[in-house]
Amino acid sequence: MNLQSWTPGRVNLIGEWIDFNGGTVLPASLPLGVEITLDPSPDNFDHVTSAQFPGKASAEQDAPAQKHWADYVFGALQTARKQGWIKGAQTVRLDSTIPAGAGVSSSAAVTVGVLKACVPNGVDPTRIALLAQSVENEFIGVPCGIMDQMAVAHARPGEALALDTRALKFEQLAIPEGWTFAVINSGIERKLADGRYKERRDACLAAAKYLGIDYLCDAEDLSALPSNLHPIGQHVLSEEARSRAAIAALRRSDALAFGHQMLASHASLRKDFKVSTPEIDALVDDAVQLGAWGARITGAGFGGCIVVLLVDIKPAQWWADLHAAHPASRWICDVKAG
Ligand code: GLA
Repeated sequence: MNLQSWTPGRVNLIGEWIDFNGGTVLPASLPLGVEITLDPSPDNFDHVTSAQFPGKASAEQDAPAQKHWADYVFGALQTARKQGWIKGAQTVRLDSTIPAGAGVSSSAAVTVGVLKACVPNGVDPTRIALLAQSVENEFIGVPCGIMDQMAVAHARPGEALALDTRALKFEQLAIPEGWTFAVINSGIERKLADGRYKERRDACLAAAKYLGIDYLCDAEDLSALPSNLHPIGQHVLSEEARSRAAIAALRRSDALAFGHQMLASHASLRKDFKVSTPEIDALVDDAVQLGAWGARITGAGFGGCIVVLLVDIKPAQWWADLHAAHPASRWICDVKAG
């Protein structure tokens, strides 16, 4: 029997690096996604092919990760078998329009997508998201938060997901008419598995421990933090406030206030959390100079995409001018009212 799913990528509009600190985030689904097809394997191995990458990857059913792009599939298949959702080895085909390594959750779309294809009807998407996160945390070894998996499991076109990452409660908020969020790839590749994600996360956990609290978003006073952890705490606390303010702005269709929070978020990620790059700072600055209402690096950072709020402006002309100034950048897609 043939199993299938389609799962979107996501762009985080605001609320960066707070999804494991007890914060509230605002991702939205992309019109780009990954189509996944599963068939029983002809032998005892899982096999994976992709329309985007050459060759075939194969692994025994309980093999550890191989540091290969297909690991996300192997890990998700192992989890699906443990849940009793599928039996035996599988042949899996991926066909994705989500750029890899750009901060728009191509990997979460694959893990959630494989689980979604295997899952019996009626399983709560939040349970799928949590299992997909455990694949990344335990099988791949990236200690990511829950934002990406929740976003791609729940998000609907034309809406953003205001997600309380602690309670796993969320609200789907319509993107106001006339707002366009453009997703632009800076052209600078980033990899989460290279240890920098864990380094930042460990610093957040260390700061919370220092203050004697479970979640850094609960801090009331950062003055006790040592100087290396102070900017980390500063970003997390201020980003939580910005994320909540942006959600309130979205509810009242206040693009000026929303854009303002995006710009402040970028400044904090650049100056305090230090996950931007000079090229991306220049891209954000020029995006705004050319008429955007807000712009910021999105996702984990260290390269990848920016997200830009365009209102009352023709996206095509704006993009032509930005691209002329930054030839390495690429238009990925836009997200707007459904
Ligand atoms: C990656 C992680 C998420 C989140 C972001 C930063 O996308 O997978 O859990 O921490 O980085 O906001």
